Order: sequence, then C-alpha cells, then structure tokens
Amino acid sequence: IDPTLDLHAEIDRLRKERNAVILAHYYQEGEIQDLADFVGDSLDLSRKAAATDADMIVFCGVRFMGEVAKILSPTKLVVIPDADAGCSLEEGCRPEAFKAFREKHPDHIAVTYINCSAEVKALSDVIVTSSNAETIIRQLPTDRPILFAPDRHLGAYMQKKTGRQMTLWPGSCIIHEQFSEKELVKLTVRHPHALVAAHPECPEGILAHAHHVGSTRAILDFVLASEAKEFIIATEQHIIHQMSKAAPHKTFIPAPGADGGCSCSNCPFMALNTLEKIYLCLRNDAPAITVPEELRLAALKPLERMLEMSK
Ligand code: 13P
Repeated sequence: IDPTLDLHAEIDRLRKERNAVILAHYYQEGEIQDLADFVGDSLDLSRKAAATDADMIVFCGVRFMGEVAKILSPTKLVVIPDADAGCSLEEGCRPEAFKAFREKHPDHIAVTYINCSAEVKALSDVIVTSSNAETIIRQLPTDRPILFAPDRHLGAYMQKKTGRQMTLWPGSCIIHEQFSEKELVKLTVRHPHALVAAHPECPEGILAHAHHVGSTRAILDFVLASEAKEFIIATEQHIIHQMSKAAPHKTFIPAPGADGGCSCSNCPFMALNTLEKIYLCLRNDAPAITVPEELRLAALKPLERMLEMSK
C-alpha cells in the first residue's frame, strides 16, 4: 500500500462508510486499543459482538474470537486483520482428540474455555471465559463430574475455588506458562509494596503469590480501585497500556520470565495484527470468518448457555 497513506484517517473513513465496529482485546498493541470502538476481555467482546447493530465487525484479537463473533452474529461480515492469528490453547486441543476425551468420560459435563475452535465448542456442554468460569461452574448440577478443557491452570484454579471434581485437559497458554515463580519472588523482594495481579491461565506457583486473580478486565478493575501505587502484572503485557492510561501515577511492572525479563509476555499471535492489516481488512472484506451453518448452530448452543448463565 501507498506509504504516504494516513492509516488512521483511512480506517476512520472506511469504518464509517462500511458501518463497521472495531473490537479489540486488551492484548492488542496500544495504538490498536486506542483506535477501537470498544476494548474488552473475552466475555465483554462476545457480548458486544452479539449485540452490535453494525454491518461489519473488525475483530482485533485472535481467530477464535472472530469465530465467536460470527457464531453469535451470523448475518454480520466478520473480518480479522490476520488469518494466522491463532492461539496455543486452541492448537493444543484438536477436535478429534477432544471427542475421544469426551467419549472416555461419558458421564462428565464438558465445560470448555472459550479459547478453542468452533469444532471443540460444538462438542461441549457449556463455554466459559476467565471472568465467568466460577459463576457458571457453581450453577452446574453437583451429581456429575466436570471435564475441563483446554487450559489446565484455569481448570485447576476453578477446582480449588469451587471444590468441584474435575478431569483436566492437559493444555496451557504459551504466554502464561512462561512466567517464573523464582524471578517473580525476586521481583517482589525488590518491590515490597507492589501488589501482584495474575490471570488464572498462570500456573499455580504464580497464582500463589497473587493478591488478585482474574480476567484481564477484572485485573484492570482491581488495579484501578486499589489504593496501592505499584503492581506486578502477570498476564500478556499489553493490558498495561490501559492501566497506565487510566492511572498514570501508578507503576505497572510486567511479571518476569525465567531470564528475569518480560519479553515472554508478548503474545506472538496477538502481535500479528497491525494498523495496516486493519486498514486492508476493512477495504478488502478479508480475511472474513466463515463457519458452516451446521457447525455454527452446534457451537452456538454452549455459547448461548454461557451468556445466559453469566447474566
Ligand atoms: P480474558 O479476555 O477472559 O481475560 O482472557 C484472556 C485470554 O486468554 C485471551 O486469549
């Protein structure tokens, strides 16, 4: 594309022309969060996608999020900036293997984290996000055990919180998996007044040091409401953009990986999205998300159950 093009102006022109809404996850680059019509966590974004009256949804996040938007809003054109923006949790839970896992545990209720493919959703009883998992699990009948996929850390955390018996799929997120407990402890010694806020996709050893555990939005709400001045943030580090904007007088330190640095908390999939690709997807109507109708209807059921149960 023409390098002299004013991408911000072109995106603004196209979004009006196309009656498009731009949704962005907190893990997107700051400049993408700033141009979005709405920024949120997975649950907020699903609700927004289900309720919008725009003709087109530009979903700045990863592919499964765009897919959820299409499942909930099938008459809208849903585009994503980069079709290769995947998710390690989704990759680690192939539909055939998940089907076999379910068949091995026929009496279990399949509670599945939204970070998965439409095919896996279609094989599930109810979908959860990190912000509604506890509320939903507490409403499930207690006479049947739970099968939780694909994030074993969120599953283990839910097991501990709710006391429910669960069989966990052995998956994890490549970002949250890399935080180092040893380096985190060293950092807390250097910053004795800092509060630690962590996403439940973090391993147990990291959660053990957290003053607050929650979804990206819950972590944001926590640091804004807290009297503390310094925070260590154990999730993808681009959420810090919103924190620094809303509370510029507070200090936010990304949680460290094994090398003591914070480069591990950059999601490579989220980072594929750029302003240029947002402009191109608005201009070209591509890459567009399509979901075959039979699959969409099957995946819609557990997603609608999620929205209903998290009201
Ligand atoms: P939340 O948006 O629920 O905080 O989850 C983060 C995530 O894993 C996005 O892929």
